[in-house]
Parts: sequence; C-alpha cells; structure tokens
Amino acid sequence: MPKNIIDIKSICHTFSDGYVGIQNISVSISQGEFIILAGKNGSGKTTFLRHLNGLLLPDSGQIIVNGHDVSKHLIQTRKTVGMVFQDADTQIVGDTVFDEVAFGLENLKVKRQKINEKVSLILKDLNLFHLKNRSPFTLSGGEKRKLAIAGILVMNPELIMFDEPFSNLDHPGTIQVLSTIIDLNRSGHTIIIATHDVETIICEATRIIIMKDGRIKEDGNPLDIINRLESYGVREPCSSKLGLGIKPYG
Ligand SMILES: Nc1ncnc2c1ncn2[C@@H]1O[C@H](COP(=O)(O)OP(=O)(O)OP(=O)(O)O)[C@@H](O)[C@H]1O
Ligand SMILES: [Mg+2]
Repeated sequence: MPKNIIDIKSICHTFSDGYVGIQNISVSISQGEFIILAGKNGSGKTTFLRHLNGLLLPDSGQIIVNGHDVSKHLIQTRKTVGMVFQDADTQIVGDTVFDEVAFGLENLKVKRQKINEKVSLILKDLNLFHLKNRSPFTLSGGEKRKLAIAGILVMNPELIMFDEPFSNLDHPGTIQVLSTIIDLNRSGHTIIIATHDVETIICEATRIIIMKDGRIKEDGNPLDIINRLESYGVREPCSSKLGLGIKPYG
C-alpha cells in the first residue's frame, strides 16, 4: 500500500471579509496518485491547493503532510509540496532563465557547484537549456510555464500541484507541458492538477475530485464521475459525450 502524503481532517477557511472559501473538507492523498481537481470558477480549487503547502492555514481542522502538522512545519511542508501557479509572470524573480531556476536552491544556501549541476540538469530535461541566458520575461507562454515547472522541480518535491497548467497554451505548448507532467508522475511524483480542461488530462488521472461552493462534492474514479461533470459546471470530454469513452490528448 502506498503511504499517505497528505491527510486532511475537517478543514474550514473563512477569508477576512467573511467569505467562506473552504467548508469542512476531509481527504487523504497517497503517494503516486494523479488527481484532477475540477469545479467551476470560484468553487474553491486554488484556495484548497494553497492550504496543502501552507500558503493559507485553516481556521479549524488539520492538515498533515508526511505525518507532520503543516502549521508547525511550514519549511518542511514546502520542500515536500510544490505549487506551479497559474500566472507564471507573477513568480519571476531571476534576471535569466538559469537564475530563475537557481533561486530556490540559493535560498537554501546550497553550494554553487551543486546548484550549477542541478539547474543544468533540470533545464536540459525540460528542453530549456538553450534559453538559459535569456530574460524570463522574453519567453513564450509555454516556455514560461515550463520555467515555472523547472523552478519547482529543482527542489524535488514529492507532490506537485499545478493550478490551471494548460490555460493560454496552444496545442504544442499543451503537449509539452502535458508530457512533462506525465513523466513526473511516472518517475514517482504525486500530481494534483486544478483545471477546467478535464479533456486534456482525463486519460492520465487516477482520481477526480470535484469542488462546489468550497466543498468536495465528488471524489473517485474518473470513469465513474465523467458523466456527472456538467452538473458541476465542468465540460465533459467530447468523446465521452459521444459515447466513445475517453481518449488521450493529441
Ligand atoms: N482573499 C480573498 N478574500 C475573499 N474572498 C476570496 C479571497 N480569495 C478567494 N476568494 C473567493 O473564494 C472563492 C474561491 O476562490 P478560488 O480562487 O479558490 O476559486 P477557484 O475554484 O480556484 O476558481 P477559478 O476556477 O476561477 O480559478 C471565490 O469566490 C473567490 O472570490
Ligand atoms: Mg483558481
């Protein structure tokens, strides 16, 4: 049995203006899962993800990551759980692609030679090495998304959360990011993808969690839930609508 990376017990989160973002969520996530987190705009997906790496803390309830309470082990949590944000531009801190990926390791005071080795390896893996001296702001949307993934990967988190990883990507960009995510899962990383675009990723997912009004409404095998997606404001994949089951993207 794979171990649980995350155990969430009855968490609630109310924002400072009184809006209830998360209501009574309990869920466990095991090592190696590939989870789609779906739900219409404002259903609470990003708010939920931000709790998993301690960017937001619950008002009540508990989040356990690898046996430790997130609120008491923030640094360890962020080493275990990485998040690739939807808007890659807002995360850029480095003058060059290389510096951007090196940033997290520099913060951890890793030795320069080790940083150079790790960053070069990740950039080569993601086919970004030829861009290493470019300003991140000059990259295309797909390249920026891959750079954001590189910045998280270099820290080698066990669980990687992607918030809308396919938004604004064209077909080749979607394929590049999709294959990167699939490779990460195959090499042992646990994956959670918050997306409206279930069709792109459904074939890879082992589980779908659907949120509505800050609550989890469905949680299970994608094939069991696929026909109910539209009742939660999420588009059902075309092939499924036509009675043809699910098909890989491409
Ligand atoms: N800081 C905040 N203060 C008050 N309300 C907030 C705050 N952040 C988010 N919300 C509200 O919480 C709800 C859930 O937001 P969230 O960003 O988690 O939704 P989402 O499912 O990720 O939506 P989308 O699909 O548009 O990305 C929304 O109604 C949003 O307006
Ligand atoms: Mg969101």
